Amino acid sequence: MITFHKAKNYFQLQGEGSTYLLGVPPNGDLHHLYWGKPLSASALKKLLAEWKKRSLETEHHVSREFQRREYADFGHNDLRTPAFQLEHADGYRISEFLYDSFQILPGKPDFGPGPSSRAEEADQVQTLKVLLKDKLHKLELDLYYTLYPSRNLLVRRTILRNRGSKPVSILKLSSASLDLPPGPLTRGPQAEGQAMPGLGTKSTEAQTGSWRLVRFPGRWAQERQMKEGPLQEGTLRLESRRGISSHEMNPFAMVSRGQSDEEKGEVYGFALATSGNWLIETELFRDQTLRVNAGLNDFNFKWNLGPGKAFVSPECVMAYSASGFSGISFNLHRFIRERVIGGHWQYRPRPMLLNNWEATYFKFNHEKLMRIARAGKEAGLELFVLDDGWFSKRDDDTSSLGDWFVDKRKLPRGLRGLSDDIHGLGLKFGLWIEPEMVSPKSLLYKKHPGWCLHVPGRRRRMARSQLVLDMSRPEVRDYLFETIGKALEEARVDYVKWDMNRSLSEVGNEVLTPGKQGELYFRYLMGVYDLMDRLNRRFPKVLFEGCSGGGARFDLGILHYHPQIWASDNTDGLDRTFIQYATSFAYPPLVTGAHISSVPNHITHRSMSLKWRALVAMSGNFGVEADITKWRPSERKELADYIRLYKEIRPIVQFGDFYRLENPYQSNRASWMFVSPDQRKALVFVFQVKPPKKGEKAEGFKLKGLKAGLTYELQNGGLKQSGEKWMTKRWLPGIFKNPKNPHACELFHLTARR
Ligand code: DGJ
Repeated sequence: MITFHKAKNYFQLQGEGSTYLLGVPPNGDLHHLYWGKPLSASALKKLLAEWKKRSLETEHHVSREFQRREYADFGHNDLRTPAFQLEHADGYRISEFLYDSFQILPGKPDFGPGPSSRAEEADQVQTLKVLLKDKLHKLELDLYYTLYPSRNLLVRRTILRNRGSKPVSILKLSSASLDLPPGPLTRGPQAEGQAMPGLGTKSTEAQTGSWRLVRFPGRWAQERQMKEGPLQEGTLRLESRRGISSHEMNPFAMVSRGQSDEEKGEVYGFALATSGNWLIETELFRDQTLRVNAGLNDFNFKWNLGPGKAFVSPECVMAYSASGFSGISFNLHRFIRERVIGGHWQYRPRPMLLNNWEATYFKFNHEKLMRIARAGKEAGLELFVLDDGWFSKRDDDTSSLGDWFVDKRKLPRGLRGLSDDIHGLGLKFGLWIEPEMVSPKSLLYKKHPGWCLHVPGRRRRMARSQLVLDMSRPEVRDYLFETIGKALEEARVDYVKWDMNRSLSEVGNEVLTPGKQGELYFRYLMGVYDLMDRLNRRFPKVLFEGCSGGGARFDLGILHYHPQIWASDNTDGLDRTFIQYATSFAYPPLVTGAHISSVPNHITHRSMSLKWRALVAMSGNFGVEADITKWRPSERKELADYIRLYKEIRPIVQFGDFYRLENPYQSNRASWMFVSPDQRKALVFVFQVKPPKKGEKAEGFKLKGLKAGLTYELQNGGLKQSGEKWMTKRWLPGIFKNPKNPHACELFHLTARR
């Protein structure tokens, strides 16, 4: 429910377990008042009274720095990191946007091209649009807040409109920006009213309310590692400048007021629905107020906005939890499953796939692929995916990208011949593509050397021997739509893996005018989305999986088009336990591609047991990535058993709720669980990631997400107790009490009994 309180000039965005308040002080700015647990009437009264006192601009000092601002500017008397920056035609970079009006809209408006989460009637979603105006330049800022009350989520966007007669350059335009006051929120003398330090008052809040950050940095084959720690005074930029959301940092982060864990603490999550250069920036000010700006990266960005034009920022999904990280994940997972991903596959069980990449790399032919596919079919798999190397003369990664026609040396009967044979086995057929790339050794490059991103006269730097096509150009997208579309049609594909294997460099082109070169990163990204959209429309029943050298483009933007994403090229069971654990903070296991591969692992050379590899793969969107014809019969049989098991548990893993129980980054075990939508079945996965230290007391864990009043029985007549007991009393399965196997692992089933 969104309300405007006229008498006191503030907006209230009321979720079921959260309140967000912003207000308009006498000077016409926009102030952030509160984001947190629902407030009691007296706490609200106190908060508003303090705001009133504080909201007067005194002019005697840098007074706006003492205000908690919403979407702050720069250059007047708040010198903190601004939410936006513009350069006007007269060269000045000072803008002054003041509050003008608001609208409360039912549902969620259509923001045009690009990724956008949906709202359905049952969500009871409303959108607040706050209009700010810079009268001098006739510019307007529309701040949008879409509230999903039952998820305690806000989806924010910003639009800049040029109503004037001169162009303006956008140097920065965050999707969301706010100042979070320090704690404590619920304890201590200042309790719920959120005292506001800064106006010369002595405050101890710096200690009690200090901010912490959870981020997900990584690198190739080690994507999304969890890192938690205190924020220090100053500005911190979590970002990508690579043109993809990146291996190095995921566009999702959480800040918490003081120490938080899975169950405790006030946590604020920010997930960006964009897949290129992004920025989540925090500035911890001297009074411990935390400013957060999130949106497109301002680095190397300059957008020329002509008269009559508008620029729409991507979405930022903001989540609040009063009960630690688990509250953020629970709501984000459901939101992603229900309102971010869509299309034919949204609620359909995802097929268990067999991919030939680690099995053959580039060395395959029709017969070899069929042998592997037959073994996959025998084991119970459902979809065969032909990875890189099927086109032109692609015998290694140095050539042929862009030439999307079949290599008849490897596949003499063409893609159609192979797909017919695969379909004949009763398997679905999938194909790998990397549309955004061109190899200098290719017919496409020979014909159109100007189609790649480049700066005239400068070297074109390669990565993986390839250059990046300029996806901002419609003729490039048309070529890809035609050639790739033809291949997919001919092959009658059921699935496509869309790869993207390098960061962008020399981001320039000869089509845009000099003043528009700063737009190219974003134009590239919108071009990618456009091609994804066109191919989705042309092949509405095809399942698309996103991929970027493993998991370098794992974000809500891609998920809008591709309902699953390959998590990492690292298929080593142990490393995957950490990657998938950390990935789960924002992303549900349904969207996370997780495959069993052969040992020793192709990257780490480690050999984890098949059981471990299978349990990790079963905790996500399951697949196999190996030449299983080379496996021993006993291994193939064991694999077939896991495949059968996954078929049984798939509805719970893919469409149930996920809970983390033990954190492998902080303990010797990883454990997590899934609960079926009706809460009658649960699956508990436990992994001993490190041997326990000598003499260490083995502590157990409590389960989550069960119904307190139901009785749940561990499989086959094991422990039987109420949901309440499972959730309040620690439990440690026997094999982990004194594990002889340094890498013991197990899956436990729980079923509700009457
Ligand atoms: C990177 C992907 O992550 C791999 O799974 C594989 O498809 C290779 N590219 C193929 O070049």
